[in-house]
Amino acid sequence: MAACFVSSSIRICVSILLVVCLLVSGEAVAENRHYATVPLSSLVGGASSSSAARAAAVAGHGGRDSVIRVVHNPNFRLLDQSEILRRDEARVASLQSRMIPGHQNGVTKRELSASSGARIPTTSGLNVGNGNYLVTVELGSQRKKLQLTMDTGSPLTWTQCQPCATSCYNQPDPIFDPSASSTYSNISCSSSSCSRLFAVPQSCPSDNACRYSISYGDNSTSGGQVATDTLALTSTVKLPNYIFGCGRDNKGLFNGTDGLLGLSNDGIFSMVTQSASRFGKYFSYCLPPSTNSAGFLAFGNTTERSLNSTSLGFTPLVTVPENPSFYGIRIIGISVGGVPLPVSSSRILMNSSSIIDSGTVITRLPAKVYSALRSAFRKSMTRYPKAPGNVLLDTCYDFSKFSTITYPRIVINFSGGVNVDLDISGIFFGDSTQMCLAFSPGTINGLLIYGNVQQRTFEIGYDVAGRKLEFRANGCS
Ligand SMILES: *[C@@H]1O[C@H](CO)[C@@H](O)[C@H](O)[C@H]1NC(C)=O
Ligand SMILES: *[C@@H]1O[C@H](CO)[C@@H](O)[C@H](O)[C@H]1NC(C)=O
Ligand SMILES: *[C@@H]1O[C@H](CO)[C@@H](O)[C@H](O)[C@H]1NC(C)=O
Ligand SMILES: *[C@@H]1O[C@H](CO)[C@@H](O)[C@H](O)[C@H]1NC(C)=O
Ligand SMILES: *[C@@H]1O[C@H](CO)[C@@H](O)[C@H](O)[C@H]1NC(C)=O
Ligand SMILES: *[C@@H]1O[C@H](CO)[C@@H](O)[C@H](O)[C@H]1NC(C)=O
Ligand SMILES: *[C@@H]1O[C@H](CO)[C@@H](O)[C@H](O)[C@H]1NC(C)=O
Repeated sequence: MAACFVSSSIRICVSILLVVCLLVSGEAVAENRHYATVPLSSLVGGASSSSAARAAAVAGHGGRDSVIRVVHNPNFRLLDQSEILRRDEARVASLQSRMIPGHQNGVTKRELSASSGARIPTTSGLNVGNGNYLVTVELGSQRKKLQLTMDTGSPLTWTQCQPCATSCYNQPDPIFDPSASSTYSNISCSSSSCSRLFAVPQSCPSDNACRYSISYGDNSTSGGQVATDTLALTSTVKLPNYIFGCGRDNKGLFNGTDGLLGLSNDGIFSMVTQSASRFGKYFSYCLPPSTNSAGFLAFGNTTERSLNSTSLGFTPLVTVPENPSFYGIRIIGISVGGVPLPVSSSRILMNSSSIIDSGTVITRLPAKVYSALRSAFRKSMTRYPKAPGNVLLDTCYDFSKFSTITYPRIVINFSGGVNVDLDISGIFFGDSTQMCLAFSPGTINGLLIYGNVQQRTFEIGYDVAGRKLEFRANGCS
């Protein structure tokens, strides 16, 4: 400004002011691109678009007939937020424990049941977690409708079966009755299918049944007979002789679901492997942003996609040596409000074992990376009053007195040049009085887990045979 007063020419003075103005406004535009301002309602109520519109979009999804809807488990909505986070901690602890070689499939060593001499595989205890995303499939000749938890961390698909031998939990639909299905078969203990399921051969029980027993880390269990029947995704897509667990003794945290659909990369009996000849080990899903909207799970790669989705490119699927059934990924950087975290964070990220998991809610980062993310985030949120932490979330705000919220965009950089600009539903977790940054430091020296909150609204395509993962923005609509 001093330059203006000493300047003899008014014109020079004006042009200096203009340049200053342009610089300032240019900066403001650049900054806006890295921040978003939204009404509080869009944060608290989840996406405002109506569930009916989304459901319709899913039903007509690119004309693909191997597409089924994904919805939130209604019980998830009833759970207290802290309870959700506690279960999430248990899920992560069990994923960490499966990073020990030899615990790959969760079905590894068998123990002889002292009473029956049956073959019983036991798991190293993957926790069910919240089981918050459900898909509906049909089983048997009568096309019995079942709502199963989709889980990229589990291999075996199972459902409860009548008659229950010991106990069955309350499930939303009538329990599957094998005797009513003409396409149902037991797998016999001496069959090659049965021996492929279990690493070590054992003597068969007198009824020659191939039995399974899965004990999850949170003491939930499912046990029964390994069987085959027709699994239908839609009226035209049927998988005959699908191997599944017909559970006659089931208890635990499965409230709200009829069982589980295993989508891990176990190479033996997950849905991915069993449908390989038809779908080429390719599946994709879009997890909906809120409880009142729907997403989808699709098998096979066709060119038809969700109308408004755009590909962000492909990132390699990385083999996790400690556990090849996990879907390994590589994250190379994170930016907050357009500013990348320090180089030291990128180095740690590139060096971390990282996986993507549909059953973990909150993304776990290496501790040092989390602190860098947190401090960058906090710096741009100083105008909002803080709220107490919630179990594993320590950066929370009270938004209740604001009608709009301005927050920094968070971009996750995956190797291969895939930059994922998270949806708002992938940044915050909570309610208006306690809305928290939805990231957390991992517990044990840094297995990075890319959780389902951050996956929301993107179509994530798993090309398991081609070893790559595609992200598509705007995937659910
Ligand atoms: C399957 O095995 C169960 C238990 O061993 C038996 O009760 C049932 O009759 C068998 N079903 C068929 C179709 O063989
Ligand atoms: C599972 O059961 C064991 C033995 O009853 C108990 O010690 C453990 O605390 C239980 N774990 C959970 C997560 O409830
Ligand atoms: C299961 O969910 C119902 C509500 O749908 C609830 O009443 C019941 O207490 C839940 N049971 C368990 C074991 O969580
Ligand atoms: C899916 O198919 C399209 C068209 O054939 C192809 O361009 C794309 O690379 C495929 N996606 C994957 C993940 O293989
Ligand atoms: C990367 O990992 C290797 C092997 O674990 C270790 O020696 C190295 O110090 C790590 N580098 C960084 C930057 O953390
Ligand atoms: C991460 O993504 C952002 C936004 O697309 C980009 O500006 C930045 O260069 C990327 N960083 C890396 C390390 O790829
Ligand atoms: C796709 O985008 C257009 C333009 O942004 C919008 O009008 C339309 O509703 C969107 N379609 C869906 C299914 O979301």
